[in-house]
Amino acid sequence: MTPKKEASAVCVIFGAKGDLTRRKLIPALYHLFINQHLPKTFRIFCIDYISIERDVFLEELLSGVVEFSRTGPPDINLWQTFTSRITYISGDFLKEDTYLELKRVLDNVDLQNKKRGIRIFYYAVAPRFIEILSDSLYRFKLANQDNLDRIIIEKPFGTDLETAKKLNRFLRKRFTEKQLYRIDHYLGKETVQNIMAFRFANYVFEPLWNNKYIDHVEITVAEKVTVGSRGGYYDGSGALRDMVQNHLLQLLCITAMECPVKYEAETIRNAKTAVIKQVRPFTPSAVSKNVIRGQYKGYRKEEHVPSRSYTETFVAARLYIDNARWKNVPFFLRTGKGMQRQSTVIIIQFKDSPNKIFKGDVVPNRLTISIQPELEISLLFESKVPGLQMKLKPVEMDFTYKESHEEAIPEAYEALILDVLKGDATLFMRGDQVEAAWKLVMPILDTWKKQQGKDLKFYEQSSWGPRAATELIKPYSKDWNHLPNI
Ligand code: BG6
Repeated sequence: MTPKKEASAVCVIFGAKGDLTRRKLIPALYHLFINQHLPKTFRIFCIDYISIERDVFLEELLSGVVEFSRTGPPDINLWQTFTSRITYISGDFLKEDTYLELKRVLDNVDLQNKKRGIRIFYYAVAPRFIEILSDSLYRFKLANQDNLDRIIIEKPFGTDLETAKKLNRFLRKRFTEKQLYRIDHYLGKETVQNIMAFRFANYVFEPLWNNKYIDHVEITVAEKVTVGSRGGYYDGSGALRDMVQNHLLQLLCITAMECPVKYEAETIRNAKTAVIKQVRPFTPSAVSKNVIRGQYKGYRKEEHVPSRSYTETFVAARLYIDNARWKNVPFFLRTGKGMQRQSTVIIIQFKDSPNKIFKGDVVPNRLTISIQPELEISLLFESKVPGLQMKLKPVEMDFTYKESHEEAIPEAYEALILDVLKGDATLFMRGDQVEAAWKLVMPILDTWKKQQGKDLKFYEQSSWGPRAATELIKPYSKDWNHLPNI
């Protein structure tokens, strides 16, 4: 559903000179604009500290779209019409003048449109600005209509359970929960959204989706990229906070959740939160047995990384969900930077068939849901090799987006921004969900802190991480299952 064309809406981007705006937000807004998803009067106000000529700013945005847009360089006429809606405001987030100016321009938009429109405030800023921005929006009554005003908050949402709780309390004193859109961009990915369709629209899988038929589940988010120039942020974070607490746990939730009663934000978010709350809590000894942390060799030489850093760039973990569906089914989560290749994939490994009528090895069925860069789902099953003998060979049944769908695949940020415009929070993290995720990872962080890096395993770049990660999965599989096409 596209918001009504006659609706009036603005998007205010705080942190307009940052990377996120250039790489993701403007390309996403541009695509929403050319595909006519934005209301006719839509306006974008970009705010940042630096003073810069509007033309120069627009040039920077254009180069971002040329470099990062999924459709390449924009059509110049469309780009000009799009940018005619963009205003740059130079303003210090710490100063009242910035908000007075913002109030003036937003009131002016309402005056021109003869109605109070939707206001989206996008915090594309470092976390330290979240509180001052929120407090200022509140004090200047810029976001005081909870059916119209929405705030988008990027991760990281807190750095541990206490800070996340504190931030939630701070925000809830100024806004209602329904105004808060905490982003986990993995939820906006087309292939991630498809998992719900795959699981709940196809009744054939539901009877199999439990501990009777599933042996174990593997969720891998492997990145070939290293930390590069992000050392300043990354070293204080590490893979557990940067990837596991949010993206991997969200993938876990979608894979393991019960079918919600209906496709609606609160029921879906309730079902996901229930999964996180049912994950067996880690005790310190469970951390040592079930969680591996690694660091790629050369990490300590990255820019802004201390030479004795023991920040993890790799995590592998085994966890259990204590409910009837998943009793005794291990879930293996793994993520790392500097890995052999990029691959985000969920593997559902089915149990061995109890029918033992064929000679030789019979490979159990395996469902591979490839999120990126491959966009496909495949089911591995045994078939008879043509010939005069009953010989078996595993083969794959594949669904690929390229072959089955002509439609272009939108970027996650397009889907997410449009949902905010529609007021649909389905693909966003609710406050309690974020806290539950922090609560789950806290014992791991606490145990690691005490270890002072003694348990850190080093791994070669372009590998699949430390050998200990293979040992973790060994009782269930020779190794982590092969990734698609390798
Ligand atoms: C971000 C992390 O949230 O997700 C990055 O901060 C990571 O470290 C990125 O590289 C991965 O996102 P994607 O969409 O490229 O898989």
